[in-house]
Amino acid sequence: MKDKLEELRQMRANAKLGGGPQRIAEQHAKGKLTARERLDALLDSGTFQELGRLATHNISDFGMADKKYPGDGVVTGFGKIDGRRVAIYAQDFTVLGGSFSEVQSHKVCKIMERAQESGIPVIGLLDSGGARIQEGVRSLAAYGELFVRNVMASGIVPQISVQMGPCAGGSVYSPALTDFIVMVRGTSFMFITGPDVIRAVTGEQVDFETLGGAVAHSIRSGVAHFAADDERHAFRLVKELLSYLPQNNSEDPPRVTPYDDPARRDEILDRLIPGDSSEPYDMRQVISSVFDRASFLEIHAYYARNALVGFTRLDGYPVGVVANQPLHLAGCLDIDSADKIARFVRFCDAFNLPVITFVDCPGYLPGIAQEHGGVIRHGAKVIYAYCEATTPKISVVVRKAMGGAYIAMSSKQMRTDLAYAWPTAEIAVMGPEGAINILYREEIKKAADPAAERQWLLKEYTDKFHNPYSAADMGQIDEVIEPSYTRLRLVMALEILRSKVASNPPKKHGLMPV
Ligand code: HXC
Repeated sequence: MKDKLEELRQMRANAKLGGGPQRIAEQHAKGKLTARERLDALLDSGTFQELGRLATHNISDFGMADKKYPGDGVVTGFGKIDGRRVAIYAQDFTVLGGSFSEVQSHKVCKIMERAQESGIPVIGLLDSGGARIQEGVRSLAAYGELFVRNVMASGIVPQISVQMGPCAGGSVYSPALTDFIVMVRGTSFMFITGPDVIRAVTGEQVDFETLGGAVAHSIRSGVAHFAADDERHAFRLVKELLSYLPQNNSEDPPRVTPYDDPARRDEILDRLIPGDSSEPYDMRQVISSVFDRASFLEIHAYYARNALVGFTRLDGYPVGVVANQPLHLAGCLDIDSADKIARFVRFCDAFNLPVITFVDCPGYLPGIAQEHGGVIRHGAKVIYAYCEATTPKISVVVRKAMGGAYIAMSSKQMRTDLAYAWPTAEIAVMGPEGAINILYREEIKKAADPAAERQWLLKEYTDKFHNPYSAADMGQIDEVIEPSYTRLRLVMALEILRSKVASNPPKKHGLMPV
């Protein structure tokens, strides 16, 4: 018995070494932690239960018989973060570049199945050169198995991917099927085909960082939701993100003990909107004044900056917030911001987070590039997402709500539960200049004094539509509120809506415009 125990201890100790001291030193030299060090850094101390530590492959081609490492390049199991259970896997780049194998797939799929059944979020720490080349079609099939698990768990448990090294091929597609991607600046890369292949096929010259670094994916492609400064920062982001999320789609998001007066009034809001309606202001000011102090976790902060999305808290309850940002593109909706908003609203809906929308949007962005890029199809995603969502929805029209944007941005008619407006709201089919030109072109031309006629018509149109009162009169706006009372009104509104029950007609699934 003693010998057997000794043998087990030795095997377990060997498994901890991954690809060996030399490769661990190389990993550290790149500024990266090892898989096990990452688990230690992210999980509550002493909570990790490993599964599959001794699993190895049985491939003998390409010299693989001599390259057997216990665990086969991934550490899998369950642990806790801030006392809450998570399923987690960490790929070990020191073993065959963390490449994804049949054994890796079995291990990861196993914890994902347990997680889905028990309603536990799944976190992947990825550091992998993609499909293990020596395994051929086996490793491709292995990815197929993983993708099915990602898709089946989607909308049931939150899935978070942290990219912690060069990630190619399947190592980017599995994360793309998850809910959030965190990248680490300088050490993580994501691409389908790397710089060498691109050079060979298209002749384009590009380096790893420019092609698939954290900056490229958080600013240009929108693939990454967060760009962390280093690995420890990435873990802080994961913890913060989880703090807003329920464990699964049948639970409510976790409330924190309220620390901010629900009736707090920030009078800055009463002066925030400029007198000239073409002047910008920072919508982040609205968010920071209305919600619990310092509780805004912005998502996609550098991508499609004409829209803001993120999690925040109201009287301790997590909510999702969506807003137009007049500082960029005057807050217009365009292809990228439509994708950003639609994705976020659907996530909130899947995980029972109320959605609060602040509207200041002159409309969809005009332009040939937008039209030919499919702004119709992409813009429709916003409409689809809001219409489909049954989670509590509240909108506040802060300033412009013009034409399609008024309707698309959580309008009352699209199943929004409560619609508020500030007195500065301008709700109309279009701005006064455009409307007057279309409606009265001939009258203005024929007038004795065309300039005066034009001014008079502009004033008439502005008086009628550049306020929230027509919409309030027709019941499209439930209440016109003083800006500094917004926080209290939202706290009270959410108290009503917290027990909301609503559903969609039974169907296999809808056909969201993708
Ligand atoms: C087997 C791999 C591997 C892979 C890396 N290694 N990728 N082994 N299969 N896919 C091994 C290397 O041979 C090396 O082993 C060790 O890992 C470290 O790799 P290096 O190249 O030395 O590291 P680095 O210079 O940091 O470059 C990392 C890398 C590069 C950018 C990831 O290794 C690379 O380009 N790998 C291939 C990427 C790729 O094309 N993968 C296939 C994707 S196809 P030794 O023993 O020599 O040190 C795919 C299909 C999925 O994933 C389909 C889904 C739809």
